[in-house]
Amino acid sequence: MKKVNPFEEKDYIPVDGTFKNWQELNSKPYDKRKASPYTKTRVILMNGTEFESNWFLHQFSRNCNNNDLRREIANVRRHEQQQQKQIASLKPLDESNLETTISYEQLAVDLTAILARHVNDQNVRNTLNFALLEDFDHLYRYANLLKMEEGEDAYDITKEYTEIMPGRPTIAHHRHPFDAINNFMNKETADLYTKLAAHIITGAEQQTMNYYMNIGNLHPTELGRKLYSEIAMVEEQHVTEYGSLLDANCSWLENWVMHEYTESYLYYSCYSDETDPYIKEIYHTLYLEECGHLRKAAEMLQKFEGKTWNCLFPQGAEFPELIKFEGNVEYVRDVIKNTVTMTRDRENYIEVGKLSEKSDFKKYNKQVNKNETKEAGHVVIEDYIKRYDEDYRYEVNEHPCEELRSRKEDNIHFAR
Ligand SMILES: [Fe+2]
Ligand SMILES: [Fe+2]
Ligand SMILES: [Fe+2]
Ligand SMILES: [Fe+2]
Repeated sequence: MKKVNPFEEKDYIPVDGTFKNWQELNSKPYDKRKASPYTKTRVILMNGTEFESNWFLHQFSRNCNNNDLRREIANVRRHEQQQQKQIASLKPLDESNLETTISYEQLAVDLTAILARHVNDQNVRNTLNFALLEDFDHLYRYANLLKMEEGEDAYDITKEYTEIMPGRPTIAHHRHPFDAINNFMNKETADLYTKLAAHIITGAEQQTMNYYMNIGNLHPTELGRKLYSEIAMVEEQHVTEYGSLLDANCSWLENWVMHEYTESYLYYSCYSDETDPYIKEIYHTLYLEECGHLRKAAEMLQKFEGKTWNCLFPQGAEFPELIKFEGNVEYVRDVIKNTVTMTRDRENYIEVGKLSEKSDFKKYNKQVNKNETKEAGHVVIEDYIKRYDEDYRYEVNEHPCEELRSRKEDNIHFAR
């Protein structure tokens, strides 16, 4: 692989004087029937990355007491907003919110699995593997809702890359907030891929959380609204788990450089991986723009803190292995087999059977699932089975876990 250091990119697009006109913000949407599943997930990922950049820079500005710096932040943020519009308009008009939701959860499954497979840091890998089984289960619940309400097969969206079957059941995801905080990494000792993984997945999960927070109450049915509410609460847990991995001792300016670096890395990955030539070209241009943002952030770090960007990249700033989307069927099956009955006890992972009834997990889980047969994730499957005799699934093989094999009954007692 060619070594790429975005700080040294010669063709970078500078931030000064390069605003786009309205026409340039409107991209040509993909065809939802023809686009590859991963073209859709990449669009969601980059849209979420731009949201994170935008909100990070707003928070930075609100915590910054220097107007010269705030002007520079506002300038880059305006560019981030333009980029977000370009990416967001790739989604076609005829793709329903629920269909998009299927792609959100496929992204969550495959991106998480890919990062977990490649990351060295054990703490980060555990966090990824843990939430992986939950987003995997969300995909299954939404897929049943999609078929029941819109008559569409989730398989037509996700294709053969991602199985659709129960993971850790959604009813078992609800944990006390005290059990969502992880130990954070150290920017001096963590390797670059570990830092990128935490930044990327935090942005992606946050996008999912925001999406459900915004569209949940727009869903046309009562049951769907309840399912979005319930799963949005789980995404809040995921965002807390992932966000707490990031080095909490970075300054705002250091953090800004890491944000721009992450965006550069992701656009370069998407550009390398994209199969649609039109979208590939967009990613390439946006990569070059991010290299311009990165230069500006590094310049600000130098100017206001007297630090060079190198201090954040002790092992060099060449991109590590790029993100390449692919199926993770065997990997996910393995994680299910080994960890499906795990939950959290503060920073630790523990077999749920080892927790006492007085634990925060048990207390919280009982509290929110007071009437467990009415839990939306369960009702969706029960309603589906009543109507079609068995649940909606796509399995390449028998489910690795016996308790989750029945297609005639949804197990609400398992893993809690
Ligand atoms: Fe951006
Ligand atoms: Fe999810
Ligand atoms: Fe999630
Ligand atoms: Fe940027």
